[in-house]
Amino acid sequence: MELDEALALIRRVPDFPEPGVVFQDITPVLGTADAFKAVVDAMAQTLTDVDAIVAIDARGFFFGAAVAYSRGLGVVPVRKAGKLPVVGGKAAYSLEYGTAELEIPAGMIEPGQRVVVIDDVLATGGTAAAACELVELAEAEVAGITVLLEIGALGGRGRLAGRKLDTLLTV
Ligand code: PRP
Ligand code: MG
Repeated sequence: MELDEALALIRRVPDFPEPGVVFQDITPVLGTADAFKAVVDAMAQTLTDVDAIVAIDARGFFFGAAVAYSRGLGVVPVRKAGKLPVVGGKAAYSLEYGTAELEIPAGMIEPGQRVVVIDDVLATGGTAAAACELVELAEAEVAGITVLLEIGALGGRGRLAGRKLDTLLTV
């Protein structure tokens, strides 16, 4: 399947999770074999010289793990606070109301490694920025951020200024 055809499966769901918000639902991309392959292959092609993948809890796990597998790399899960038994570092990020924390497992990334952060969607950029912070806390280098979908109006790209950012689709 062509990439465009795969990306066209992303579904806009009005008024979710609350009135006035249009949710970008990537579920049909996951559930359609040819689309999932087209998207994962395209995300994998954005990687250049990379030692490890960091995938962001929860929807980033699908793409991060698949890209890592296709490139013969390991995948390090950055998780929402309280899920990891051995925490190497934590970083706060802002939600619409309040803040949340992401954690990186201890000892999975070595200092100096080149790491690509993978998620499904870039919105305000808070989640991706926190994941980058965790990679750098581990004294590794953020070689890039790759996401499937960027919601341009929310300004996430600006938040990641100076970093290599690859997105398959901007809406
Ligand atoms: C969603 C999405 C991104 C993040 C983007 O995750 O999967 O990770 O929001 O938003 P931001 O750029 O404004 O930070 P969310 O935590 O809502 O849900 P998930 O656990 O299903 O991935
Ligand atoms: Mg997410």
